[in-house]
Amino acid sequence: MNRNQVINGLTPRQFTQPLSTLSLAVLLSITGCSESAHVEQAPNTPTVAVEDSVAKSGIDLWPALTPAIAKDAALEAKIAALVASMTVEQKVAQMIQPEIRDITVEDMRKYGFGSYLNGGGAYPNNDKHATPADWIALAETLYQASVDDSVDGINIPTMWGTDAVHGHNNVIGATLFPHNIGLGAANNPKLIEQIAAITAKEVMVTGIDWVFAPTVAVVQDDRWGRSYEGYSEDPTIVRDYSFAIVEGLQGAVSGDFLSDQRVLSTVKHFLGDGGTEKGIDQGDNIASEQTLVDVHAQGYVGGLNAGAQSVMASFNSWHGVKNHGNKYLLTDVLKDRMGFDGFVVGDWNGHGQIPGCTNESCAQAANAGLDIFMVPTAAWKPLFENTVAQVNSGEISQARLDDAVSRILRVKFRAGLFDKPSPANRPLSGKTELIGHASHREVARQAVRESLVLLKNNQNLLPLSPKLTVLVAGDAADNIGKQSGGWTITWQGTDNKNADFPGATSIYAGIEQVVKQAGGQALLSPTGELSAQQKPDVAIVVFGEEPYAEGNGDIDNLEYQRGDKRDLALLKQLKAQGIPVVSVFISGRPMWVNAEFNASDAFVAAWLPGSEGQGIADVLFTDAQGKVQHDFVGKLSFSWPATPQQATVNVPLQSASAEQKAQYQPLIPFGYGLDYQSDMSKALVLDNLSEDNLAAEQTITDLALFERAVKSPWSMYIATREERQGLSSSVAKNSALTIRTMDRVVQEDARFVSFNGSEQGVVGLISNFPRDFRAYSNSDSALSLSIKSSALMQKPLWLGMACEGDCRKQVDIAQQVNSKLGEWQALSFSLACFADEPMDFGKITMPFYLATDAKVDISFSDVVIQAQPSENTITCKK
Ligand code: BGC
Ligand code: BGC
Repeated sequence: MNRNQVINGLTPRQFTQPLSTLSLAVLLSITGCSESAHVEQAPNTPTVAVEDSVAKSGIDLWPALTPAIAKDAALEAKIAALVASMTVEQKVAQMIQPEIRDITVEDMRKYGFGSYLNGGGAYPNNDKHATPADWIALAETLYQASVDDSVDGINIPTMWGTDAVHGHNNVIGATLFPHNIGLGAANNPKLIEQIAAITAKEVMVTGIDWVFAPTVAVVQDDRWGRSYEGYSEDPTIVRDYSFAIVEGLQGAVSGDFLSDQRVLSTVKHFLGDGGTEKGIDQGDNIASEQTLVDVHAQGYVGGLNAGAQSVMASFNSWHGVKNHGNKYLLTDVLKDRMGFDGFVVGDWNGHGQIPGCTNESCAQAANAGLDIFMVPTAAWKPLFENTVAQVNSGEISQARLDDAVSRILRVKFRAGLFDKPSPANRPLSGKTELIGHASHREVARQAVRESLVLLKNNQNLLPLSPKLTVLVAGDAADNIGKQSGGWTITWQGTDNKNADFPGATSIYAGIEQVVKQAGGQALLSPTGELSAQQKPDVAIVVFGEEPYAEGNGDIDNLEYQRGDKRDLALLKQLKAQGIPVVSVFISGRPMWVNAEFNASDAFVAAWLPGSEGQGIADVLFTDAQGKVQHDFVGKLSFSWPATPQQATVNVPLQSASAEQKAQYQPLIPFGYGLDYQSDMSKALVLDNLSEDNLAAEQTITDLALFERAVKSPWSMYIATREERQGLSSSVAKNSALTIRTMDRVVQEDARFVSFNGSEQGVVGLISNFPRDFRAYSNSDSALSLSIKSSALMQKPLWLGMACEGDCRKQVDIAQQVNSKLGEWQALSFSLACFADEPMDFGKITMPFYLATDAKVDISFSDVVIQAQPSENTITCKK
């Protein structure tokens, strides 16, 4: 059962908002209609059903909050005076947030951006090993350029925002806390506040002002690649944590609020990011308005009550309307109803996803209530110019502009930015000893201990004596990158080595320390191979998901290692030798691991613990005298699935109906977790779980790859036989072709490629993260696209797919394309066309490419994996 369905049994409320002022999104949610159905049901002729639900919808469903910080008349006057003195250009510059890879110091001097960011895996001088001094130097130079009024005539300090989402995770040597999913299991708001306060300190050492955390997504579908960024599927935990973390980052409103020991925080992503259909990142949330309030908004209640000064708009849509352009949510709900007087910052060119907008131009977002455009890439300059022009033409009103700028300035004043010394001269700046300080690591280690959830412990195998000979196996045993997950030094958390984590401890290293001290022995063997003399008493196998971030972590069901049960084989091999097995499972979400449960004597969900791997040995082992040092305290903050398909099993809200409560049947419920006192005869997970994954047939639906926009996680590239390049603008070329965006039905929904015939040119979609397409290849799906060509081709036009390890299969479609010269046509090819060796549909890296040596202009759009073949699907049967 999905909590999204829990909409009944709620107190009906008065509908006070006049219908005409409601956005389309609201109407759609009221009627529960899809966009097309809505057309027939005009808002002025509401049906009974509409009336009925209207009574339960509308702005008054939302909590009316009292702002944590009362308006200060003197400050407001100061802001007004400053705003009145600014030119349109100076104001718009406050709204533009470029990224460090795309601006120079001179740009900052000339424009005076209100803020800037470094994205995940972006460092000063593009140097992964940049030192704190390098970070400070960049902060200082950009700050000085911002307050230099020689070119732009203004001296408002800029501010730097960064994704310190589990510690200051872009900086080498920083303390890395468990990702939020593990902290949720710890369910200890006090600890969370401490973690946030430490994060603030390490961030301040590098001269940075502002942190894009906490993520308060209430995760409803664990297929979502950002599940681990959420604390829980339960809104209460999220609300309490949000309060604690905001207070830890910014200081208490009644205490040292935004003192020189504190940073600004951002509650993100507003709203409903954790509730998209099928858990698709940046997808569509079709929850009712009441569910938005009861489930998805709770983190904002906590965060705003703690005085959060910024909120990040979410990439996702609500009933098909992108949040970045949703005035009802951003302005009517968040600012007007919930009383938020800080600013709304956009997410990574999220404005460009609004229909009718591009990264370079988007009045709609500003008009909807976006105050800061997060605009990485070179798009910032045209966006700046277009926004200025839109203000001058009245498309964005002066009042809206002034409101946005006032909000930004209000936060800067509250943060003391006008009075604080420059970044290099702040009290914590340059105190490099604080980065990864022992006392910080101690708190992270405690968090690791508290985040562990014991799910199985046959015959009380745990706790272990440290005097034993312990085999430590699994590819996560001595791999700090893997135990830390995404958003770790690099954006995806990939490409890191243990040497990139000075001061950190792997899980193996932690075990080794404890065991060695007590006179036992730890044998590290990731593959589990042992020499004949080595006779372990017990094996600890540390295994789990590879790191990922955002849409790259989306999966279509929760089965662990589908089609490739390497770790299960390892567990079984050890058991076959009579060695008792303790599994330590590293993952960004609960997964279907029934077979792995059965093959383990004890099983610990360790989530993504971060840099302090000793926290695990602290709990698994007693001291040398056999005394428990730290018992398990973690409890599941996510329900554990009984089947691979059970991705939306969530603990029902209290307001749920009895029937909905009865439907809640996970394998292991929310709140579960054993400890050393538990009565094992009552344990839920024994050795006889069903390993049958076919029970529930997976229903598949069309998968858009390029429809209006290139869909996450894919990106478009062009290539020749020699080189490949990603596209970062609307026009690009290489020695074989030129490509540009074109409008077929709506803006930029198609691409026009001019192949010059001199050599083979390629255009396609790629992701570095292989995707599993087996659900499609097993059910007769097809690759479809719309295409048009300018000339008859005498040479092949290849349509292909590729999988990891550069395997590829392609078919020549020149004949079909030639048959309707100069006209758009929809073509569809069965995936069977691409199925021959060495194709592996389990690991698709390029789901689509076109390649040719011919001299021809090709336009294409609407590239989709069609779940069901159509009449016209070409089957390629030989
Ligand atoms: C950035 C990330 C960002 C992502 C969004 C990456 O290149 O480094 O910070 O979240 O792009 O697509
Ligand atoms: C993510 C945000 C992040 C931003 C900046 C986006 O892709 O969705 O969570 O704060 O990038 O890196």
